[in-house]
Amino acid sequence: MATNQDRVNFGSKIGAILAAAGSAVGLGNIWRFPYETGNHGGAAFILIYLLCIVLLGLPIMIAEFSIGRHSRANTAGAYNVLAPGTPWRGVGYMGVLAGFLILSYYSVVAGWTLEYTWQAISNGFAGMNAEGYTQFFTNFSANPWRSVLWMVVFMVMTHMVILMGVKKGIEKSAKIMMPMLFILIIVLVVCSVTLPGADKGLAFLLKPDFSKVNADVFLGAMGQAFFSLSLGLGCLSTYASYFGKDTNLSKTALSVGVIDTMVAIMAGLIIFPAAFSVGVSPDAGPSLLFITLPNVFQMAFGDVPFLAYIFSVMFYVLLALAAFTSTISMHEVVTAFVHEDWKFSRKKAAWYVTIFCTLLGVLSALSFGVLADMKIFGLTFFDFLDTLTSKVMLPLGGMLISIFTGWYLDRRIVWDELTNEGSLKVPFFKVYIFIMKYLAPVAIGLIFLNELGIW
Ligand code: TRP
Repeated sequence: MATNQDRVNFGSKIGAILAAAGSAVGLGNIWRFPYETGNHGGAAFILIYLLCIVLLGLPIMIAEFSIGRHSRANTAGAYNVLAPGTPWRGVGYMGVLAGFLILSYYSVVAGWTLEYTWQAISNGFAGMNAEGYTQFFTNFSANPWRSVLWMVVFMVMTHMVILMGVKKGIEKSAKIMMPMLFILIIVLVVCSVTLPGADKGLAFLLKPDFSKVNADVFLGAMGQAFFSLSLGLGCLSTYASYFGKDTNLSKTALSVGVIDTMVAIMAGLIIFPAAFSVGVSPDAGPSLLFITLPNVFQMAFGDVPFLAYIFSVMFYVLLALAAFTSTISMHEVVTAFVHEDWKFSRKKAAWYVTIFCTLLGVLSALSFGVLADMKIFGLTFFDFLDTLTSKVMLPLGGMLISIFTGWYLDRRIVWDELTNEGSLKVPFFKVYIFIMKYLAPVAIGLIFLNELGIW
């Protein structure tokens, strides 16, 4: 259960940051953040989201890092090391389950990015208008074969990397791809905000309307913060179990948080000006990114088809890669657990995870088409899994992680992890403990009670 020889190890500090940032930056930022913002009325949601990142996200990320690096085990195994024979293990189990569930529906959307990459390469979007893109998305996502096929392809790709180990390939490609993604995003932001009518989109993003803030907005913002930072299920604690002794946990958390937030905000700056410009409704839901983006390319580079072609191919490839580094991290959580706790070989463990996750993913894929009428609590299977994980399991996991760190874990361990055994100065340690003990659990608890209408 403790460290195994075949576990990957991040060679360098920058490797650790990149791996964690690769996990955090993904569809959560570029696909989910814009549509959640759109569903929850815009700027006010973003402010609450930022508050959640700073007050809950970063401190809990440091807690996950500490738990992972100190125990050097998978997320369930970690509690066995730090709190043997206690029910705390349940937090780990819940995390593994949440990772499994998220991976299953996340792969569906990741599959969409492959379809769009394919369409971009074969120039399939050329000459379509705004309605055409919407129609294309609706037809494609409802097509049982295409969406399932791409999801399976994505799952198999993830599986291969997990089998090979997250060695140089991913670390190295992340080093090249992440900056490229960043630059491309900036180019697209400039294109989008200069479209005619973009100002309405900017106002939607920047002018908070607090009359729209209700319990759902708080829960949505908190859920999005956890989802986007990869928190609450032990994903980053699993990665931290591969961190070196000299990795500065608070600094790493800050870097990851800043990168992740910037990508999300810039994604908003691409989507909303363009959506308002061509008349796509901001509350279009999961389809928002996919029906808006092709418009951006056409409208910004329509006069120079070659540029439209190059930029769209590059963007979809990088989007798929951003999703890829995230699916790898989720697969790793479940595989490390099945391998270390159930004592399957790593290869077998990975196979089980891939096969069962794919089977469950099929249900999510089909819920945009033939299974659209199968509702759970009034939600499609896809929406149900998304809501259950991001709005219940992740915040609950985060709450328990902060209680564990603030109340159960030996203060000495937390201190050693934050200061690298005394070699770093951590002037905010007292504040940190206060957040873990009181602020985070109470804030998350209140948002839950608020949503249930009890508070
Ligand atoms: N954070 C990733 C994204 O934004 C998704 C993700 C990867 C995730 N690992 C996770 C979400 C663990 C929650 C928990 O796309």
